[in-house]
Amino acid sequence: MKVMKKIAKLLLLLFIAIQFFRPEKNINQGNHLASFINETNPPENVKIIFINSCYDCHSNNTEYPWYNNIAPVSWWLSNHIKDAQVDLNLSDWDSYDKMQKKHNLEEIIEVIEAREMPLKQYIWFHPDAGLTGEQREAIMEWARSTKVLYELGPLPR
Ligand code: HEC
Repeated sequence: MKVMKKIAKLLLLLFIAIQFFRPEKNINQGNHLASFINETNPPENVKIIFINSCYDCHSNNTEYPWYNNIAPVSWWLSNHIKDAQVDLNLSDWDSYDKMQKKHNLEEIIEVIEAREMPLKQYIWFHPDAGLTGEQREAIMEWARSTKVLYELGPLPR
């Protein structure tokens, strides 16, 4: 029993110690999504989907839950966000060339069709982020019609 107590104490100390290691937050105010919105022009219902279900991971601004203040949850969230941004950061829309933009839209269709996004773990904590069939149709429809923008015309910029 003594050993158990010692271990519990050690774990508690460790837990306190890791609280000092805070990942940098992904927080940006202002117009970081303007070029994405202006160029791809999502209708209001699709905009809402992005706000409720995607931007926390795929933009330069995350609305953090309170439990993000607790390590190691904060580390876990931070890694998810970084991984997500590598694949798709809608705040960096300008940094993608035509082919990449088209590819991004195709990927969006794929992940929505396969119900891979938003991530399941995210829906557990954000029940509103789950998409209805109608919402999935709406975002895919928008992506299909917007993709055409990047299929025509001369060389990629
Ligand atoms: C909780 C964070 C999170 C949310 C919310 C989220 N994603 Fe992701 N997304 C990720 C991560 C992490 C990846 C990297 C691939 C992986 O680990 O599955 C990813 C990858 C992607 C990819 C690239 C897939 C590929 O195969 O290259 C697309 C496209 C995507 N997400 C679209 C979306 C859309 C659209 C939404 C909203 C409906 C969304 N995601 C919501 C975390 C998230």
